[in-house]
Amino acid sequence: MSFSHFDRAIAVFDFGSQYSQLIVRRIRELGFQALLHQPGQVGEIGRPSAIILSGGPRSTSEPDAPDIDFDRLMEYGVPVLGICYGMQLLNLKCGGRIHPGTTREYGPALLRPAVADGLMAGITDSQVWMSHSDTCERPESARVLAENQDGIPVALQWDDRMFGIQFHPEVSHSQQGGRMLANFLAMAKDPAKFEIGAFKDRLVAETREIVAGRPVVCGVSGGVDSTVLAALLHEAGVDVRCLFVDNGLLRKNEVQDVVAQFEEIGIQIEVIHAADRFLTALAGVEDPEEKRRIIGKLFVDVFFSAAGDIQLLAQGTLFPDVIESATSGSIASTIKTHHNRVSQIMELARQGKVLEPLSDLFKDEVRALGRAMGLNPRVLGRHPFPGPGLAVRCPGAITEERLEIIREADEIFIDALRRHGLYDSVWQAYAAVLPCKTVGVKGDERVHEAPVVLRAVASQDAMTAEWVRLPGEFLAEVSNRILNGVPGVSRVLYDISTKPPASIEWE
Ligand code: XMP
Repeated sequence: MSFSHFDRAIAVFDFGSQYSQLIVRRIRELGFQALLHQPGQVGEIGRPSAIILSGGPRSTSEPDAPDIDFDRLMEYGVPVLGICYGMQLLNLKCGGRIHPGTTREYGPALLRPAVADGLMAGITDSQVWMSHSDTCERPESARVLAENQDGIPVALQWDDRMFGIQFHPEVSHSQQGGRMLANFLAMAKDPAKFEIGAFKDRLVAETREIVAGRPVVCGVSGGVDSTVLAALLHEAGVDVRCLFVDNGLLRKNEVQDVVAQFEEIGIQIEVIHAADRFLTALAGVEDPEEKRRIIGKLFVDVFFSAAGDIQLLAQGTLFPDVIESATSGSIASTIKTHHNRVSQIMELARQGKVLEPLSDLFKDEVRALGRAMGLNPRVLGRHPFPGPGLAVRCPGAITEERLEIIREADEIFIDALRRHGLYDSVWQAYAAVLPCKTVGVKGDERVHEAPVVLRAVASQDAMTAEWVRLPGEFLAEVSNRILNGVPGVSRVLYDISTKPPASIEWE
């Protein structure tokens, strides 16, 4: 079920480059709406204001190389920019040839503009980022816009509205890449601005139209994505049933907090109390993957049996999930893929009953959307919390006693981060408990109790992370409060591991 959002967007066709989403992102940073499409969708993109063909890992000389209906593309009558693979494809379509390379040119190269207008306006000799193996032999009529350090053309113009560049303007290593994209956008035909307020109004109207009075079921977690999604459905006047599964692996007071958070938006959520089922199924299980499997499967069972007959299921899938699930190995995306692949959801999707209004947005854009809807900044600034909950912070067998230790220690840590004004500068912070005993002295007695680990990381996207240098005094305060206030803990450790190689979560 698709949302079109805006007429006159910049249409980016994805030929499989790892940077396709980045192109969309850069365009939005320049203030214009961009949407990503598959080449096969060339006839279904509304009225674009300009078109970009992305790079890709393949070679145009391969027998089943990705292609696009060029005649259809030309009918739009708007400027077209090919990047790497996209450039090679355009060169072929315009009568040039491609010479397959044997090695891949990957990394920095020097760009020497040969002209000073159009795409190259204001561009000086500078570094660009290359990633290709094939090279273009241009047709006679093509104009060379720039060369590399060896005098080989790396930017071409085939006619008054068709351009190609052999490098990636979207990556930050291309020093003047943003300027080149801006030059291209200046040629676009009345491009739609990306402005979050207008975007929100459009999304609300479109959601209302697509839902068409049908009841919607939505799984919520209290996280940013599902909260913004529910608020959007609510604002669109949709009859939405929000289900929240209490799997017994939540943080202290989380159920009450999430209920209150939704009440603030005017939504009454239904809490499905399933803690006993989860904890019984997890009893004695130590293998991390087995724990995840049990939790994932039970979640689906519990959710769908509570939901009953679903006419429309709303999901908070974001833009990176859509592509990352295919290209990256991150656990978060694997899990989302796993969730997206569960048979019930696949069946609903087949019937056109899955609604994903946020699937064109990046995380920070979802937050901006939430702000535009007037959501509480505290909700929008919430740290991510994993689907399997405290299970991934409780290595070894999960017991209620060990979960209780995590809950108490976590609350102390998070509360201190908030009071010291540190919460918002941290991507994610939590307490975990280790499955061993460590010796301590309490009163006059030697005790053997659990060690607690504190972890706080800085990150942009959870793919890489750096441990946060929290002040020693701050850590001392948190450690004292945990050691004196949480029964069963005799030691507090601070995790100083970067990701990679360590992951953010403990399991
Ligand atoms: P890792 O531990 O892989 O975590 O560095 C990266 C981000 O993903 C979150 N995470 C999960 N989220 N289900 C989720 O919904 C999961 O199974 C899961 N595992 C990790 C983690 O909290 C971090 O934000």
